[in-house]
Amino acid sequence: MMKLRVFTVLLLAGLAFAAPASKDDDEKITITKEYFPDEFAIYESKHEIVNIVIPLNSLNFDEDDSSEDEMNITIFFVEADIDTNGNRIYQGLYAFRNGTAKMILENGRDAASSGDDSRTVYLAATDGLYTYKADDQTAVKYGSLDDSIIGIDHVAEGDGLYILTKDHVVYEVKDNGNTKVKLDNVENAQQIMLDYSDNLYFYTPDKKAYVRTADGVIDIEGLPENPKKVKLWKPPFIIENGVPFLVDNVAYVIYSNGTSELSGFDFKPKAIPSAVGMEAMLIQYHAYNKKIYEYNILALLLGELLEELKNFLSDKTNEIQNLATNKRASLRRKA
Ligand SMILES: *[C@@H]1O[C@H](CO)[C@@H](O)[C@H](O)[C@H]1NC(C)=O
Ligand SMILES: *[C@@H]1O[C@H](CO)[C@@H](O)[C@H](O)[C@H]1NC(C)=O
Ligand SMILES: *[C@@H]1O[C@H](CO)[C@@H](O)[C@H](O)[C@H]1NC(C)=O
Repeated sequence: MMKLRVFTVLLLAGLAFAAPASKDDDEKITITKEYFPDEFAIYESKHEIVNIVIPLNSLNFDEDDSSEDEMNITIFFVEADIDTNGNRIYQGLYAFRNGTAKMILENGRDAASSGDDSRTVYLAATDGLYTYKADDQTAVKYGSLDDSIIGIDHVAEGDGLYILTKDHVVYEVKDNGNTKVKLDNVENAQQIMLDYSDNLYFYTPDKKAYVRTADGVIDIEGLPENPKKVKLWKPPFIIENGVPFLVDNVAYVIYSNGTSELSGFDFKPKAIPSAVGMEAMLIQYHAYNKKIYEYNILALLLGELLEELKNFLSDKTNEIQNLATNKRASLRRKA
């Protein structure tokens, strides 16, 4: 039953981000350490896992691949030690596939991909950009930029690659990785994240959040003042115009129109994941205390537990069945 409860909560968390709608108190979900049981751990490290990326493009969710129901997902993650001042001492970027992790860039920091038919995954490193070569799981230098890059994200469809450099400047990368154009009005970004409509969210050292849309940069309103810690997460693919924003231990959704909402769930302070990969929604990877946990909700939905799950979730059954049977059940976002 614990397994069912964990999956249910994560699925609801995804739905909560998609439709936060005024939550009653009794609908509020608090994540505790119980949500990280050993049976879901797929990887254990000596270092913290500080970043997880699940490409939603054809590398993982190929609509033409008939063997698709055989889960063969490649995830990317970054390890680091955290020193007493909270600074990261990076320990490498890894690709994880079929139960095995391989370090592919010792100086890697972040990864990003589109959500379309491309199979390319872009990797950010201290000496520029790389792409991932799946057949031998290696990193291949991309373009000629040699900046020290700490963050990267890619638009959902087509071309559009953004990088955050170590000096906290955000650029759009052009010309196959050979030139970069600074984004106006995006100053002092500590982290960047795109939603699936290509709006770019970032926060500054004072932990205030902003969004850059086609119309310019605006503040996000309605968030708590003076938080200690904030973090942007890549959204589940069903959210179009917003991204999750963790403010201390409370998860908000911030939108491209500058508004914010409580998502309806939060974390016990000692149960805050160090990284979250919820973009595929039905298969999620969360890192906690140097381990990565896999929550394969899709397998549960397709498997024998479906009836049980339906009873458990009677009021959400329609939403969940739509998710499971929808063409997006391929998990790939298609506009
Ligand atoms: C998994 O993916 C890799 C590379 O994308 C491919 O070489 C391999 O054959 C796939 N395995 C299965 C079981 O589909
Ligand atoms: C996946 O892992 C299993 C068990 O370790 C192994 O037998 C199989 O060959 C692997 N498949 C691929 C595509 O690497
Ligand atoms: C802002 O966008 C969100 C998500 O699209 C929407 O729910 C909300 O009503 C919008 N608020 C305003 C004031 O436009």
